[in-house]
Amino acid sequence: MIEQTLVIIKPDGLTRSLAGRIIQRFEDKQLQISQIKKEELSQAQLREHYHHLIEQPFFPKLMSYMMEGPVLLMVIEGENAITRTRKIVGVTDPMEAEMGSLRGDFGVDKTRNLIHASDSVDTAHEEIVRFFGE
Ligand code: PPS
Repeated sequence: MIEQTLVIIKPDGLTRSLAGRIIQRFEDKQLQISQIKKEELSQAQLREHYHHLIEQPFFPKLMSYMMEGPVLLMVIEGENAITRTRKIVGVTDPMEAEMGSLRGDFGVDKTRNLIHASDSVDTAHEEIVRFFGE
């Protein structure tokens, strides 16, 4: 099934000049970028995107990390793109993520984990509309 998913390369992915290598990993697995833009996310956008985490103790840290600088927003498309993208990205905590996954290879900790990727068909649709419109 051809799916679309939203990927965000978080601010340190850009300051560490990792965007090219990150994108290459998706393209190597026949996932294609159908939309891409660089943007500084506002507090309002981030509060909406992470609305389910607002009560978490780490929320302020997550917000300040995501506002350190611009991010790269991408719509990635391909066969089973949602599951395959998350496999390439690796689990949330880079300490637990497999070597060979992006977070396993480049992530620092649970905050500075480099990438966001949608976790379901519904979330992917919601997040793509949020950042790119219908
Ligand atoms: S995931 O990938 O969405 O399934 O991961 P989840 O565990 O649900 O975490 C959701 C997002 O919260 C961030 N997170 C944290 N930030 C700071 N400190 C701690 N302890 C922490 N735990 C989780 C995590 O990076 C996830 O961000 P996104 O952008 O969704 O990957």
